[in-house]
Amino acid sequence: MAIEFDRIPRKSLSALLRTMPKAELHVHIEGSLEPELIFALAQRNGVALPYADVETLRAAYAFTDLQSFLDLYYAGAAVLRKEEDFFDLAWAYFERAAADNVVHAEIFFDPQTHTARGVPIEAVIVGLEHACRRAHAEFGLSAKLILCFLRHLSEESAFGTLQQALPYRHHFIGVGLDSGERGNPPEKFARVFAKCRELGLHVVAHAGEEGPPAYIESALDVLKVERIDHGVRCVESPALVQRLAALRMPLTVCPLSNVKLCVFKSLAEHNLATLLDAGLCATVNSDDPAYFGGYINENFVQTFDALPALHARHAWQLAANSFEASFADAAHKTQWLQQLDAAFAKAAAQG
Ligand code: ADE
Ligand code: ZN
Repeated sequence: MAIEFDRIPRKSLSALLRTMPKAELHVHIEGSLEPELIFALAQRNGVALPYADVETLRAAYAFTDLQSFLDLYYAGAAVLRKEEDFFDLAWAYFERAAADNVVHAEIFFDPQTHTARGVPIEAVIVGLEHACRRAHAEFGLSAKLILCFLRHLSEESAFGTLQQALPYRHHFIGVGLDSGERGNPPEKFARVFAKCRELGLHVVAHAGEEGPPAYIESALDVLKVERIDHGVRCVESPALVQRLAALRMPLTVCPLSNVKLCVFKSLAEHNLATLLDAGLCATVNSDDPAYFGGYINENFVQTFDALPALHARHAWQLAANSFEASFADAAHKTQWLQQLDAAFAKAAAQG
């Protein structure tokens, strides 16, 4: 039966955005490291921090672009040393995600950030994977890991990281590409991604966040990605928008991140409604929630509050897109879509 979206009043939308089942497909686990946990881990591991307290650290979260954020993000990650630290980090994220009614999460991690400091890749992957298993057992939240290569580093470093990660191949479902986009085009990682595809890994890449539409095109053509992370600059090329729509190529959009990193001046200027109305498979995600002012539900609620063009139909579409765009199996997708339809049908019946 068709959902009567017009019967859902705008005043019920915030509650529905919060309670609807959803998948999160773009969250960097190191970006969910809250200042309180940074200080707790610094103490546990005897790491000195250049900030007096949590408030002073939080006050430093004022970014002018992606690089100004990455400098702090990599510095914060330096408190992560042991397997249990990675477990605690991911577990804290899962508690928040479950409270936001995330039923499935595909989580990025950046091994090079840690191996460069002498942390064994095993501690990173095993700690995170343990939290994923517990999230499934305790919350019924299915959680998968995606290993990201840092694009400001070399192809050789990416190949070395892949080699180190291969003994743990069964613990991650895919690879991604993140860090500073400008001057680091997808082509730099053509051979590593080819190898990853050969290994049967899923492939995604950040593109069109700060970088030009041409980077989205080469992520598709050269890396042969299955999703584009961010991708919001696609609107600068109408031909590319048409291509992405025809492919149903998912874009994992992160509205609060885009504002904090000055990709858009404000949420009111964000192009999420334009992307959806162009038929793109856009999704909403938190990116680095500890740094950007909110987890996935804050992204949904604040964006809908700021954009009057977004209606109940868009809310349903965004959640449905998150399931469609996930790497989960068809049976789970069908089950989550049924839960989603039930939540919207109930809201429509209540009027
Ligand atoms: N690493 C963590 N967050 C990122 C972002 N928004 N863009 C690129 N790399 C990242
Ligand atoms: Zn990201």
